[in-house]
Amino acid sequence: MESDYKDLIPQLDKEKLPQHIAIIMDGNGRWAQAHKMKRVNGHKAGVKVVKQMVETAREIGLKYLTVYAFSTENWGRSDYEVNYLLKLILDSLINEIDELTNNGVNIHFLGSKERLPKGYEKKVEENCRRSWENSELFLNVAMNYGGRQELVEAVKKIAASAVSGELAIADIDGNTISDNLYTAGMPDPDLIIRTSGEIRLSNYLIWQSTYAEFWFTETLWPDFTRSEFIQAIIDYQNRKRRFGKRK
Ligand code: IPE
Ligand code: IPE
Ligand code: MG
Repeated sequence: MESDYKDLIPQLDKEKLPQHIAIIMDGNGRWAQAHKMKRVNGHKAGVKVVKQMVETAREIGLKYLTVYAFSTENWGRSDYEVNYLLKLILDSLINEIDELTNNGVNIHFLGSKERLPKGYEKKVEENCRRSWENSELFLNVAMNYGGRQELVEAVKKIAASAVSGELAIADIDGNTISDNLYTAGMPDPDLIIRTSGEIRLSNYLIWQSTYAEFWFTETLWPDFTRSEFIQAIIDYQNRKRRFGKRK
């Protein structure tokens, strides 16, 4: 199946590409278990797939790709798994950053700065800065990300502007909220893909997903293929999005 993903690309309607795809990369632990390995080996295998999806996104001309790497709830895992994941995410970024930057990718981390190890944020920033000139593909890594945490932080920022008199309460609207999220200035996701058979959002982009289309697959993340990715987009292109309107 993987070999024929290039045959699927011509089936895509270039005029109707989603602007923004967000992925919930789930099932690494179960994949490892099925291969009689430790859970963390599933995460390691998952990184390779992220790389393939970024390449595919560039190949088809996608503008925004957001991947869920670590949620605010994932701190509830064992110290060993948490530390492994934090290191894996940072090391993978550092490994790939030059190639990604040279390929026109603009990289941002979406998430809370709280609880991350000392120096983590600075290191991410130092590594990503050069990519911020780019605009071919915007790659967001949702790291220490939680949709509720994001809204709490937005409310605090908005309240502070209201208290300081900078912002009139009557002027607060949906855009005020959108503009204070980690995703400020980005289009909402058109398509959200989740692997591993779970049918839930798990605190992902809860404000931004209001009118997203959803695509679920039983495939575990380390087994997710470019073909499936393209197939998800083809399915998306066959949907009728109404946004509550009649036509
Ligand atoms: C997704 O895989 C990766 C992260 C949540 C970091 P999981 O680790 O959740 O794998 P399962 O769901 O336990 O199989
Ligand atoms: C969602 O997966 C978070 C990431 C993919 C990073 P989880 O495995 O943490 O979600 P639940 O626990 O199944 O809802
Ligand atoms: Mg999971």
